[in-house]
Order: sequence, then C-alpha cells, then structure tokens
Amino acid sequence: KAGQASFTRQQEPLGLGHAVWCARQIVGDEPFALLLPDMVMHASPGCLRQMIDVYESHGGGNVVAVEEVPWEHVSRYGVVGAKDWKDNAFTITGMVEKPKRREDAPSNLIISGRYILQPEIFGLLSRHEKGAGGEIQITDAMLKMLASQKFTALRHSGRTFDCGSPVGFMLANLALGLAKPDLGQDLRSEIKRLGLL
Ligand code: G1P
Repeated sequence: KAGQASFTRQQEPLGLGHAVWCARQIVGDEPFALLLPDMVMHASPGCLRQMIDVYESHGGGNVVAVEEVPWEHVSRYGVVGAKDWKDNAFTITGMVEKPKRREDAPSNLIISGRYILQPEIFGLLSRHEKGAGGEIQITDAMLKMLASQKFTALRHSGRTFDCGSPVGFMLANLALGLAKPDLGQDLRSEIKRLGLL
C-alpha cells in the first residue's frame, strides 16, 4: 500500500512539545511514532522496529528509546528513571528534562529521540505549560501521563549520532558513508590517499 506524507509547520519555536502538538489533527486519535531527525540511528533491525516489537510484546502503552551516556553529557537530554529490567526493556518510573545538577538525574539513561505515544499526550500538551529552558517539553507531558499510563523504555541496540553537535553530524556522515556498500570502499581509499588519518 502506498504511503502518504503530510506536513505541518510550527509557526513559533516554543519547544518540542509544542511542535508535536501542532501535528495533533494530522495524527488524530491513534497511537503514533515520534522520530526526532537530529538523532541519527544506525541499527539493524532499525530502532523503531525494535520499539514496535516491544510495544506489541508489552501490550501497548508508550515506548521510549533510551541509551546510556557518560554522566557529563546527561544535562543535554531528557533522562529516565527505571525499574523491573527484563532483557533490554524496563518500566519507566520518572523523567527529567535536561537536569542541571547530577543529583537531579535519576540515571544516565537518556531519551534517544524515538517515541511511541498514545494520543492522550495531546490533551496534556494543549495546556502549553513551560518547562526546562522556558519551552513546552514533551518530557513534561509524558511525566504527567505516567500517572495514568504505562511507559516502557527500550535500551535499543545500534549507534546514535547526535547531529545537534557539529562532531555528531560529521561522525554520522562518516559512519553511515563507510557502512554503505556503494560508497564505503571509495571513502576509505580517499581517506588513506589524502593521509587524513
Ligand atoms: C529533545 C528532548 C530530549 C531528548 C533529545 C534527544 O531535546 O526534549 O528529552 O533527550 O531531544 O535528542 P532537544 O534535543 O530538542 O533539546
């Protein structure tokens, strides 16, 4: 079946939660996947595939992809607290967006920018409450929804490149380029020929 693409614009930069809320009419009253494209994933099976498998085996709810990062990077991200590990999935017990101090972070497991969410999130986002950085945060709306809905975290396999940083962006190009069958060999030879490494 052919897919269909729809676009909407966020007219003002009021935060990620607000950007998602702008898509409420396109999504409608259904569970949906949210993918932040500045986090580039290199995984097989793909991260969203892994998340859908967890969604199905855990009886629905909400699923968030997480990964461990060095403690000094934790303040750049949304962070989750967790219990009841089973394989790589666990129950989320808390969430904090960009914790300023290390003691405010429940763990060093950060939200990787891939979510499966229930449509009730739109009701919470419509309150337009501001959180970290004065922005409307999806993490805060998820934290509110945690009171009434299940959230499962999946520690996904594969690599993530945070293209919000220049080094992350360059690394993503390099890693994915080197892995491409029609590009990798040439890229390797050019790097050698130019003596770049
Ligand atoms: C957003 C989310 C944050 C998440 C991050 C992943 O932050 O708010 O919870 O960890 O994406 O990239 P942003 O990068 O928009 O500041």
